[in-house]
Amino acid sequence: MTSLTIRRPVDLHVHFRDGAVLRQVVPYTARQFARAIVMPNLVPPVTTAKMAADYRSRILAAVPEGQDFVPMMTCYLTDHTDPADLVAGYRDGIFVAAKLYPAHATTNAQHGVSSIDRLDPVFAAMSEHGIPLLTHGELVGPHVDIFDREKLFIDQVLIPVLERFPQLRLVMEHITTQEGAEFVASRGANVAATITPQHLLYNRNALFEGGLRPHLYCLPVLKRARHQVALRAAATSGSAHYFLGTDTAPHVKRLKEADCGCAGVFSAPVAVEAYLKVFDEDGALDRFEAFASLNGPAFYGFAPSETRVTYSKAPHVVEASIAVENDEIIPLFGGTSVDWTLQQQL
Ligand code: DOR
Ligand code: ZN
Repeated sequence: MTSLTIRRPVDLHVHFRDGAVLRQVVPYTARQFARAIVMPNLVPPVTTAKMAADYRSRILAAVPEGQDFVPMMTCYLTDHTDPADLVAGYRDGIFVAAKLYPAHATTNAQHGVSSIDRLDPVFAAMSEHGIPLLTHGELVGPHVDIFDREKLFIDQVLIPVLERFPQLRLVMEHITTQEGAEFVASRGANVAATITPQHLLYNRNALFEGGLRPHLYCLPVLKRARHQVALRAAATSGSAHYFLGTDTAPHVKRLKEADCGCAGVFSAPVAVEAYLKVFDEDGALDRFEAFASLNGPAFYGFAPSETRVTYSKAPHVVEASIAVENDEIIPLFGGTSVDWTLQQQL
């Protein structure tokens, strides 16, 4: 296949940050995606409908003229989230979902939830009103091995929560393990997962290939090859349990190439091309539209894009870096050639 025409994809998991970084990165997502679910881990986190509405305005101001793009906002859950506020923000069309960060699990998760059991009143309201719960699915603690975090989160948090709230709509964000893929597949249509391009393209060897590779460091961290194989099988299966969510997470180079570097892969400039590489290699291009453009909208309950886009198998070189103030952000595949290129929008 030398070209592929599909409905405009949707990115169900992005980080835009704020200020100068936001203004630089939003156009990359808006160029390729009809919509995106925007994560709320700003400083301070987006915990109220007012904060989310203001943040949405700043995002829309950064969308290039004439570009159709809909940011969809999420609420950052804390130990103090008021279920009534969350429900009101959802009913008012400001929040589409709420994000659960276990405290200290990742970037700006210090305000996250310290005791998930105590969130039952919030989960009850979310279950009743059909508000999706998006999880950063890692159990963290001083004695938890970083490679076991996801499985322990499934066993110790997700299974009990779903036992208490079986109707809860739940997206396990950025799954990284075979156990994650199997867990969502074993549940009903109310449970789904996003999968990032880096977890499909790489396994943990890539983090150390010829030296330490900080631009491939993200959380949850890359896992061993058998997990990568399982994730590729899941994504390319066409199953409605899995959909595109890049977790594009820009950090400036100074903070990535540091003594204690930040987690995140900035994939927005080349996101669709990166996934296409995987689907092409695995002979699954006929199932790409389901993963990229249909399954996510079906789960969240909005219509897939009516716009069609064509990607051609024609190489282009990805920008090596993107200037931000006095620093730069290094994209996935920066400075190298990728096989697929966005051609036209109909
Ligand atoms: O690698 C990551 N970066 N994982 C996350 O969970 C958060 C994200 C970020 O915001 O930088
Ligand atoms: Zn994320």
